[in-house]
Amino acid sequence: NKAIAVMTSGGDAQGMNSNVRAIVRTALFKGCKAFVVMEGYEGLVRGGPEYIKEFSWEDVRGWNAEGGTNIGTARCLEFRQREGRLLGALHLIEAGVDALIVCGGDGSLTGADLFRSEWPSLIQELQETGKITQEQHTRYKHLNICGTVGSIDNDMSTTDATIGAYSALDRICQAIDYVEATANSHSRAFVVEVMGRNCGWLALLAGIATSADYIFIPEKPASDGDWQKQMCDIVAKHRARGKRTTIVIVAEGAISADLTPISPSDVHKVLVDKLGLDTRITTLGHVQRGGTAVAYDRILATLQGVEAVNAVLESDADTPSPLIAVNENKITRKPLVESVRLTKSVADAIKAKDFKKAMALRDTEFIE
Ligand code: F6P
Repeated sequence: NKAIAVMTSGGDAQGMNSNVRAIVRTALFKGCKAFVVMEGYEGLVRGGPEYIKEFSWEDVRGWNAEGGTNIGTARCLEFRQREGRLLGALHLIEAGVDALIVCGGDGSLTGADLFRSEWPSLIQELQETGKITQEQHTRYKHLNICGTVGSIDNDMSTTDATIGAYSALDRICQAIDYVEATANSHSRAFVVEVMGRNCGWLALLAGIATSADYIFIPEKPASDGDWQKQMCDIVAKHRARGKRTTIVIVAEGAISADLTPISPSDVHKVLVDKLGLDTRITTLGHVQRGGTAVAYDRILATLQGVEAVNAVLESDADTPSPLIAVNENKITRKPLVESVRLTKSVADAIKAKDFKKAMALRDTEFIE
């Protein structure tokens, strides 16, 4: 009987609990043991039954309706060092775990793949230093790893949606609807800053869903052309037609100085100085990651959790680590390393202001 462990890592995202629930229950349904690693990679480094816990069917009851991640998450510096990964390997073997499913963003999945590729040398060292026996070395000579993508940013290449993205989008739309009501009362303009790291997906889709007047995203730099004139012309035209509200959305990725030097206060100043609008700035912050998951994320996370368990049970030493994706509404498997590499290339192209390359890479259908 195999033992399958699941962890959540990086920033939390709505739907992670559904993913953990599905993985635990599918593992048990298939006759495996199910474990959870608490607090992301930190739990692997700490080890022991407090951090690597065996879970039963009942332990995940009701989790579809709970936000955040109940097994905790962390951004762990120690696991970035080989010493931390050596401890992680030892603790997994001590707990009797054969396969690890990591639900996280690109950074977390990069860590997962590194862990897998280093595994033979890690267990070799553990045996040579007497930390594990020859039998354990033979039994655990291969670690199966699988990734499911949990992130509100929807920034992972090769999948159409990441777990949490549609919930965060929904939260942003709700918040902008609230802001719209008070904007309407005072005939005000609001500059709304939304999350998304290097990716403009949340800002763009929220802009469409809330009929925002203007949107700043990292993929289309504000410095490309005269954004001040363009934005003011559009806003003035809407106002001339009797609109009492103005909503401008700024993606956090558009703020970072090495991308495009735009900030909500720059936009605020232009709306006040050039159009004389009574303007406020609202930064939505972590409320975007809060609350429960929308139905889509619960379903996506559940279907992907089932597929992740199937994938680790079907993998052997020669199978590249899979990443569970969704493409045109079908749950699919992609090579984890390639997906992470492509995601990084897109982010690098945006940082280098090579937006054409970023868009071309994002559209790449390179994996069958
Ligand atoms: O990756 C998810 C995300 O919410 C990003 O949109 C944001 O840039 C970042 O995490 C915030 O991180 P933290 O919660 O560590 O402040």
